[in-house]
Amino acid sequence: MTAVEASTATSAGYQDFTLGAFHFRRDEFFAHVTWPTGQHMLSIDTFLRALQRDVAWDFFYGTVNFDAVFGTVNHYGTVDMFAGRFNEAYRKAELDHTENFETPLIRDTFKAMLDNWTNEGFDPFASPAETDKPFGMKHGSNTSAVTRHRVTASRMVSVPGDEPIRTDATHSINRMFADVTQDEPEVHAEAGFEAEVAAFNLYAYLSRSDVTWNPSVVSQCKASLYCPTTEEYILPVIHGNDRVEWFVQLSDEIVWDVQDRDTGSPRAKVTMKAGDVAAMPGDIRHQGYSPKRSMLLVWENASNDVVELIRTGKAPTYPVEF
Ligand code: PHB
Ligand code: FE
Repeated sequence: MTAVEASTATSAGYQDFTLGAFHFRRDEFFAHVTWPTGQHMLSIDTFLRALQRDVAWDFFYGTVNFDAVFGTVNHYGTVDMFAGRFNEAYRKAELDHTENFETPLIRDTFKAMLDNWTNEGFDPFASPAETDKPFGMKHGSNTSAVTRHRVTASRMVSVPGDEPIRTDATHSINRMFADVTQDEPEVHAEAGFEAEVAAFNLYAYLSRSDVTWNPSVVSQCKASLYCPTTEEYILPVIHGNDRVEWFVQLSDEIVWDVQDRDTGSPRAKVTMKAGDVAAMPGDIRHQGYSPKRSMLLVWENASNDVVELIRTGKAPTYPVEF
């Protein structure tokens, strides 16, 4: 593995980073990305919120678009970094650029950039209403926030030895979920089955989440992953699916902009109210808007076989035929 390429601090106090032919620089307000055929600016808050998720989710399923130009595609072992690849105008003008990296190199570069570019008091996972601003000359850091533990249960939250439930001792109840009841189910397991029978209050668990737009794996059964999350304001990435995802709106309301994954042309606007269920197809990109803090269950199929089946046309891009 090649080492992370970082400069000494520049005028605003931040390091520059180089990965392949891509170059990254931050100033007080912007991230500047250059590549052999072009250059691009993103607001630093957009850039850091997207970068935080790409790092924490280890490049997620499929495509993570930071905006309409820049992003990554996960190939589960290697990652493409691209500019303009899923933007029809860049493609037509042949200004798009893609490079493929071994996952550890892009992971380490992104981690170093996230840590160096995040100032004291700014938490890229927090709702904008619950964090300081990211702007200005470099001042301090927030390493504990940008490296926080990601919940990934191997069986289910609350199972002995697995991810624990949240209590006052570890997580306070969010200001928007003060009305969520906090009682836990009683579990009366037959002697000898105490490690096999478990239950927990998912609403209480989510009411204590201090992050937004960050699906946590709370249960796992073979390839079936329940990844609920709490949402407020705008999903900081535009996710391009490589498989179907199911959404169950557990509370409040989210509006989804759904576009063609490759061109970005609009396909649907989906308003999900509490109790609504939707399947997001395997050939779209989407971004959610949550006017009030809400709870969303994202149900993922973690089997990478399905990616190949969809890509080769052996499985459809949608999950049900009516
Ligand atoms: C998604 O891309 O499907 C997604 C990502 C993060 C969320 C919710 C949904 O918090
Ligand atoms: Fe998605």
